[in-house]
Amino acid sequence: MNSRTRLLFSLGFLSLLWFLPGQSARAETPIHHVSSETCKLCHKEIYKQWKGSMHAQSSALKDPIHGAFYGMVIGDPKKEGVKTKAGKYPVCLNCHAPNAAKDKVTKLDSKPAYSEGVNCVACHTLQKFNGIDGPGGKMMLGVKAYEASGTLQGPAGFKTVFEQEDDMFGGVIDDGNSKPNPHLGKSVELDGKTIASMPMQGNPTLMRTNDACMGCHDKRNNMKKVPLCSTGDEYKTGNIQASCTSCHMPVNNGIISHSMGGGHDKTMLKSSLVFSLKSDKKGNVLKTVATLKNKQPHNLPTGAPFRNIYMKLTAYDAQGNVVWENAKGHPMKDDADAYLKLVLLGDDGKPTSPPKATQLGPDNRLKPYETRKLNYDIPAKDVAVVRGELFYNLLWPGLVKRFEGKLPADLLAPVSIAMSEVTI
Ligand code: HEC
Ligand code: HEC
Ligand code: HEC
Ligand code: HEC
Ligand code: HEC
Repeated sequence: MNSRTRLLFSLGFLSLLWFLPGQSARAETPIHHVSSETCKLCHKEIYKQWKGSMHAQSSALKDPIHGAFYGMVIGDPKKEGVKTKAGKYPVCLNCHAPNAAKDKVTKLDSKPAYSEGVNCVACHTLQKFNGIDGPGGKMMLGVKAYEASGTLQGPAGFKTVFEQEDDMFGGVIDDGNSKPNPHLGKSVELDGKTIASMPMQGNPTLMRTNDACMGCHDKRNNMKKVPLCSTGDEYKTGNIQASCTSCHMPVNNGIISHSMGGGHDKTMLKSSLVFSLKSDKKGNVLKTVATLKNKQPHNLPTGAPFRNIYMKLTAYDAQGNVVWENAKGHPMKDDADAYLKLVLLGDDGKPTSPPKATQLGPDNRLKPYETRKLNYDIPAKDVAVVRGELFYNLLWPGLVKRFEGKLPADLLAPVSIAMSEVTI
């Protein structure tokens, strides 16, 4: 058969398929194009938690901070065919818009499943984790670190031999009504609408372990091989049993929480450490010790390199006037130890931004489970109260300045996460 007849033959074969009785010509929606709005029809509570999380804001169309960097380093998230300076598909999308990355699309507003970023199906189709170390030292990040499935993956899964009628799981209970289960191999009816079958496989090996997170959260280097975030490496430094989901996906009201809070979540931040203050009078000085204990198996702060925490320590007199402070304003100059941060450096040894960094600089963030003591001698005269307060910041002060007026003010403002006070 020459190539022309082969072509004609296969065309004929295709058209035969097309007209086979009972066959629909309409292609089924691939599972990675299914929007979270579909899952919301039944999983309302989980949808609400996810919608409020950074996973739902992770695309450059939704996260203002990521969007600002994406715009500077890569380009317009509403254009097709966007490439990096090296002519490659933007690696960011492998983690920030995984469904678009599977299709090598860069126009993120062309489908809800793309602009939704890390949506339901982005995680619930991950089948096997291969690690992020690819052949030849190449990093395989985000969706590249996984084998993806065309079938939904669940922590338990269902035995499809059961008929829907004897669904032993009882269905998602919402508004007092139980919902039909579309994961048993058949389409179902809900409120007069047909919901296509979405079969489910049990995959506890992935869904109930850190494998569900590490493809995107282990480590990422910039072009110059400088690790920008390395939550996974931090975690691996200890012999640690606490899984990521034990803190980030606790069970609330019988449902596994999908809020997955971090640096954008004040409640989570407040739970991240133990902060206490001691102040003993020795002659004319108050020997003062601030103790910070990191409760996490990863650094505090972890994640993106520009996350940071600083401490303000202030002594007041009985009238509430400030008589001493560890620093005027931000402590970065007067009290560098009270400013917990990672510094990235350029070739000239000067601090620089993540895309330009060529080496790691000083890193005094709290290590996993570390207890850090900061000591101060405060002149005791007139002091009635010593107060310490910790502030978390999503961005370094330099970036805050640069983005002033360009990013929402609440993303730039320091967030108070802990306070401790001693009355003398
Ligand atoms: C970042 C990854 C991720 C995203 C995004 C995600 N899930 Fe999950 N989901 C998980 C993991 C991991 C588990 C299992 C956790 C465990 O067993 O400890 C899970 C569990 C579940 C469960 C079982 C809950 C239970 O209480 O047994 C349901 C249902 C579910 N997810 C639905 C959804 C829906 C609907 C969405 C979107 C609105 C979604 N998930 C988004 C990772 C994710
Ligand atoms: C028509 C209703 C309906 C829709 C739509 C629906 N589900 Fe479900 N789902 C159920 C029911 C019913 C169960 C079983 C009872 C339960 O877990 O509450 C279930 C269970 C699950 C589980 C738990 C499986 C396990 O192993 O424990 C996951 C994960 C899940 N669904 C994900 C999704 C995702 C992702 C979507 C959207 C792509 C979705 N579901 C859409 C009804 C639905
Ligand atoms: C497909 C990639 C992917 C997977 C899988 C994934 N995440 Fe994420 N996660 C992201 C991205 C991207 C962001 C950042 C969103 C942003 O800030 O733009 C993020 C953000 C977060 C945050 C930070 C929220 C904040 O407030 O800044 C936490 C916590 C988190 N993920 C936990 C988890 C956990 C736990 C798992 C495993 C159950 C997981 N993630 C699985 C991609 C992923
Ligand atoms: C003991 C509870 C605990 C465990 C276990 C834990 N985390 Fe966290 N995680 C936190 C808290 C609290 C925060 C908020 C403070 C911070 O940013 O360090 C946080 C923050 C984060 C962030 C947000 C970073 C950002 O830029 O906003 C990510 C991502 C994250 N964790 C991922 C993980 C991963 C991946 C694992 C498993 C290897 C894990 N965590 C294990 C409690 C935990
Ligand atoms: C390996 C997966 C991965 C890749 C690739 C990746 N990121 Fe991220 N990115 C994350 C995760 C996870 C977070 C949030 C948690 C954290 O801080 O670690 C994040 C957070 C960010 C943030 C902070 C967002 C916020 O709301 O504060 C910016 C900015 C960012 N990424 C930009 C980029 C850009 C630009 C690229 C591509 C050049 C990129 N990222 C590539 C996983 C990735």
